[in-house]
Amino acid sequence: MGIPSQPQPIILIGFMGTGKSTLGARLAALSGLAFADLDRHIEQAAGMSIPQLFATHGEAYFRDAESASMRQLLSPTHAPIVLATGGGVVLRADNRAWLKQHGFVVHTVAERDEIIRRLRNNRQSRPLLTGEIEERVDRLLHERARLYDFAHYAIRTDHYNVHDAAQKVLTAWREIS
Ligand code: S3P
Repeated sequence: MGIPSQPQPIILIGFMGTGKSTLGARLAALSGLAFADLDRHIEQAAGMSIPQLFATHGEAYFRDAESASMRQLLSPTHAPIVLATGGGVVLRADNRAWLKQHGFVVHTVAERDEIIRRLRNNRQSRPLLTGEIEERVDRLLHERARLYDFAHYAIRTDHYNVHDAAQKVLTAWREIS
């Protein structure tokens, strides 16, 4: 990777409910980088919530907005940040390749049962989770089984508390910076 002139952005990828935003906020506080949440950025740019975006324009439109916002926030002309992405940003192969080239990619990992526990009462904002929660999560986990594997680093968020997880990620990030 050579010697970067400025720190690499830290990019969090992972399934819904694996703690990307929580870990991202902690990483930002500890690293001094600014924090951005891709979903919030999309909502601000569109002037509507994620469920409204899906309902009004459909998923493909949302994926286009997601891909564009991701490139904007991680542009080399943008100050390096900690970015929490949405769980589906990895669906497009060109996004995966682009992310890997533009920062230190960290995969947040949690067990299926823990994911369901976290999402069960927290899915109003997630249009892909309508219906029976276990069936939806199992189907999406299956569809996305290997899509997060390209990350530079993986961290369990169900075995470590957020502070310890953040310290582990920062140690790995500093080694490559
Ligand atoms: C999605 C995950 C969501 C959000 C949208 C679609 C997905 O983000 O981007 O509802 O396809 O997995 P979180 O992973 O932050 O819940």
